[in-house]
Amino acid sequence: MIILDGKKTSDDIKDEIAIAVQNRRAKGLKIPHLAAIIVGNDGASMTYVSSKVKSCQKVGFNSTLIDLPEDTSEEQLLHEIEALNKDKDIDGFIVQLPLPGQIDEQKVLMAVDPDKDVDGFHPVNVGKMTLDLPSFLPATPFGILELLERYDVETSGKDVVVIGRSHIVGRPMSILLSQKRKVGNATVTIAHSRTKNLAEFTKKADIIVAALGIAEFLTGDMVKEGVTVIDVGITRVPDSSKKRGYRLAGDVDFESVSKKAAYITPVPGGVGPMTIAMLLKNTLKACENRDK
Ligand code: GUN
Repeated sequence: MIILDGKKTSDDIKDEIAIAVQNRRAKGLKIPHLAAIIVGNDGASMTYVSSKVKSCQKVGFNSTLIDLPEDTSEEQLLHEIEALNKDKDIDGFIVQLPLPGQIDEQKVLMAVDPDKDVDGFHPVNVGKMTLDLPSFLPATPFGILELLERYDVETSGKDVVVIGRSHIVGRPMSILLSQKRKVGNATVTIAHSRTKNLAEFTKKADIIVAALGIAEFLTGDMVKEGVTVIDVGITRVPDSSKKRGYRLAGDVDFESVSKKAAYITPVPGGVGPMTIAMLLKNTLKACENRDK
């Protein structure tokens, strides 16, 4: 069994990005600048956003964090987005999800300039991705493709089951893995909460992407020997033995599944760090696009 080490791989990618930034600096080109908007104080979202900002510093990007209160109105948020769209120094920005209930998420995502949409959530980028046109790929599926590529995991002709149909992970992952691309050409099944007899699908799968958000859902009896398992889940499970009062659990029961797997991602240290690295990669690309 080989661990797909997202921490190490993301560090390698960040090193590559840092070199690209140094080269830009040496040539007098613009330094990439990523902004992130967070609304409210959800603990997990704050952790993710602060990691994103910290990673910007690590690779030499400029970064801006816009921290808005929980009761921010949709209009106020749209106003902030418009300001970032117009700001010539900002190459790309993200609005951390989920958003509080008073704000229509779809309206917010549509307000982001597609050229600065480094999350790849705007319908223009989703459409381009679906049509195999160059676009910003959503960071989590993009990170999974990169991890599979760097570990030489074959996907062509393989049976893949993606569990979860979210707009951020499951849906784009299923599209990307079925496309004619280096990491792609797979036969993809997308499973969700209404899927009957899920284990019948997962037991036949060569590759499983678990992105449903239920702690330790996928167990050893649901997979075949030699499977590749990508765990996208990261749930806080109460644990009084931990100082912070919780532990982080993936969607995969690592203990039982790892005994049968050829390749598996750990949680933490698998998909999570890759997501951040790919957001940086998209931001570098957004900056490079503006050189032209
Ligand atoms: N919430 C969970 N994942 C993501 C992500 O990739 N981007 C943003 N903006 N919010 C998220």
